[in-house]
Amino acid sequence: PYTTLFRSKLKQTAEAICEQYREAFEQQEENTSDGLDYTLPGEAMPSGSFHPITLVRSRILSIFSRIGFNVSDGPEVEDDWHNFSALNFLPEHPARDMQDTFFINLDPDKEHYNGQLALRTHTSSVQIRVLDNEKPPVRTICPGRVYRNEAISARAHCFFHQVEGLYIDEGVSFADLKQTLLYFAQEMFGSDAKIRLRPSYFPFTEPSAEMDVSCQICKGKGCNVCKYTGWLEIMGCGMVDPNVLKNCGISPEEYNGFAFGMGIERIAMLLYQIGDIRMFYENDVRFLEQFK
Ligand code: PHE
Repeated sequence: PYTTLFRSKLKQTAEAICEQYREAFEQQEENTSDGLDYTLPGEAMPSGSFHPITLVRSRILSIFSRIGFNVSDGPEVEDDWHNFSALNFLPEHPARDMQDTFFINLDPDKEHYNGQLALRTHTSSVQIRVLDNEKPPVRTICPGRVYRNEAISARAHCFFHQVEGLYIDEGVSFADLKQTLLYFAQEMFGSDAKIRLRPSYFPFTEPSAEMDVSCQICKGKGCNVCKYTGWLEIMGCGMVDPNVLKNCGISPEEYNGFAFGMGIERIAMLLYQIGDIRMFYENDVRFLEQFK
């Protein structure tokens, strides 16, 4: 009986206090009425969006991180050794030509290239830096901006973004490369994506190939995006040339591996069906806000 009495007393007291506050609150509302309705929802803050290059870049990185690749970084201004020589480009290779490469002239008295620094033309240069500093096994991807002295058009620009990959270990086979690229294509474009490899040439890989993915728009039947072939070219790849390993002080008798490289813009253009590469760099909000 004592507790029951206590409870009812407690309840009365609490109710009295609530009532007191309610009255005070109502009073206050009348006094400070400023014509505003505080129960209305607030104004939404405009939210930004990621740039499509950022979106595709992080998708590529997460796909490769799931199979154990880490991410490496390197400078955009490179020397001849990291961008060309260590990658087995012979001195007279046409890619060194001023048509393709932006050379940095450190000697203002000399009108032409003095052979020292250039804007990197691919992120393969980062792979050399990784091999200089790490012992195999190496499993890494190198995303970054690259520069090429090309006429700007709907399909090409003087700078763009790449993700290149490098895998060095004992007894790596071409089948490992194919399986890795098939995994990537299916994660990126859908589980029904197919790949095909066509023979190609790069100074730093032997054998080299160009990889196509089956057109996901027409499912291989042929449309204007794949130019009625059913296939889209998306990257270069191959087995790392023994000379590259030697240049980095790694024994090609002990280790071998594969490398691949793709343009982020190209993948983004296929994924989102963007017809003009220049759109990525114009910062037009009407374009950018579609990626919210
Ligand atoms: N570095 C090549 C390019 O920029 C791509 C590539 C990377 C090809 C690795 C083969 C192996 O076009």
